[in-house]
Amino acid sequence: METLSLEKTQEIVQAVQGLYARKDPAHDLEHALRVRSWGQKIAVEENANIIVIELAALLHDIGRSGTVEKTHAESSAGLAETILQKNGYSQEIILQVKEAVIAHSRETCEPQSLEAKILYDADKLDYVGAVGIARLFSLAGSLGIPLFGENSCESFYHERIKKYEQYLNTDSAKRYFRPLFSYMEDFWIQIKKQMT
Ligand SMILES: [Fe+2]
Ligand SMILES: [Fe+2]
Repeated sequence: METLSLEKTQEIVQAVQGLYARKDPAHDLEHALRVRSWGQKIAVEENANIIVIELAALLHDIGRSGTVEKTHAESSAGLAETILQKNGYSQEIILQVKEAVIAHSRETCEPQSLEAKILYDADKLDYVGAVGIARLFSLAGSLGIPLFGENSCESFYHERIKKYEQYLNTDSAKRYFRPLFSYMEDFWIQIKKQMT
């Protein structure tokens, strides 16, 4: 299976690193790199186009501080197109990457292609397990939201993260998700116990 060469990966990393906000560690370049790793793993198991997934993962959140009239996924896709064109990628690859980037957030649209489905799943896997807990609290810190109560870490966990499993597309992602989610469930049981 063809993968992105180290040189090509470095080219894209160099192009995106300034676009990932340092003030939000939950959505920084490290997040994109972890999504890329999940994406590679799932792509192999699901026999998908790894290069499209790797590129989409590296580019998927670059538009989070973009224009307000668009969703962050649409902003990311627009910026991704420019970067990929500059780096000589074919129109076919650009369209596939854009489709995946646009559909990684359900507020924009549902993923249709296998690569878009895998990017969606890979992104959600970074919300669970120990990494998911670390991201949740760092996000709370940057947004200034409390640990418990309304509009808190706890409510984000119950209203968003708990529901992600039902939206996962691939069997591979579901298999990876379950133990990481159950680790997170135990964490919330423990934190509640400690509070009483
Ligand atoms: Fe995103
Ligand atoms: Fe993301």
